[in-house]
Amino acid sequence: MILMLGGNIMRVAVVTGANRGIGNFWTSKLLEEGWKVYAGYRNDLGGLKIIENSNLIPLKLDVTNNDSISEFSMKIDDNIDLLINNAGVPDGRWRSVEEIDDEWALEVININSLGPVRMVKSLYPKLKGGDLTKIIMISSLMGSIDDCKIGRSYAYRASKTALNMFAVSMKKECLEDNISFLILHPGWVKTRMGGDKAPVELEDSVNGMMKLVENHKLEDSGKFMSFDGKEINW
Ligand SMILES: NC(=O)c1ccc[n+]([C@@H]2O[C@H](COP(=O)([O-])OP(=O)(O)OC[C@H]3O[C@@H](n4cnc5c(N)ncnc54)[C@H](OP(=O)(O)O)[C@@H]3O)[C@@H](O)[C@H]2O)c1
Repeated sequence: MILMLGGNIMRVAVVTGANRGIGNFWTSKLLEEGWKVYAGYRNDLGGLKIIENSNLIPLKLDVTNNDSISEFSMKIDDNIDLLINNAGVPDGRWRSVEEIDDEWALEVININSLGPVRMVKSLYPKLKGGDLTKIIMISSLMGSIDDCKIGRSYAYRASKTALNMFAVSMKKECLEDNISFLILHPGWVKTRMGGDKAPVELEDSVNGMMKLVENHKLEDSGKFMSFDGKEINW
């Protein structure tokens, strides 16, 4: 649904993992551009504390917990134009195959692959029925099988590959409801996950992704793209 405020169109977004890193920057940028943002944070408000904007609605959200997701979802009064499934975790960077911690590997898949699916499922009634709704899956180049030259990061890679497949397989059904998926690699970005050596600044990553989101069309649903506009091989 499009909200009209003082004659201006206000679009509505949901961002997960909005308290820091890429999700926090997305939230600031969207607010700057006049969006209303429902911003999910797991425990601590973090960077959301310092954003002063009446269109920001911070809400607690753990993407592994269906009760938390339902509570979050019930507090959203609007139809949603944009869902940014951003929340994610790295894996243990185990030194060898023999050291893979299967409990943590399952948790990585739980957060990175199933978290976004739970969000789509719970928010579906508020995603369908309007003009084009865009669901952004913040994936990673590390989920590309074609690009997996050096291996390692087992659970993280697998979690993002699974996320990509969830998106591509959901897109067929969602097309009928005018819902489109865009799978994005944000670049190797300076965040807690990306570390200080990452070459891409938050601003460049989010600005690049935002441009792709703005230009995205229903017929391109399910594309896997890098923040700089290049299409990524599966
Ligand atoms: N940075 C990179 O170079 C890079 C590259 C490729 C892809 N990505 C992807 O980009 C996304 C954002 O990464 P980032 O670099 O901004 O990482 P980050 O700074 O570590 O932030 C991760 C965010 O996810 C949240 N989160 C983790 N588990 C959650 C859960 N169960 N429920 C709700 N929120 C949860 C964190 O909340 P807490 O503060 O509560 O932990 C935090 O807000 C991730 O999906 C990541 O895989 C990042």
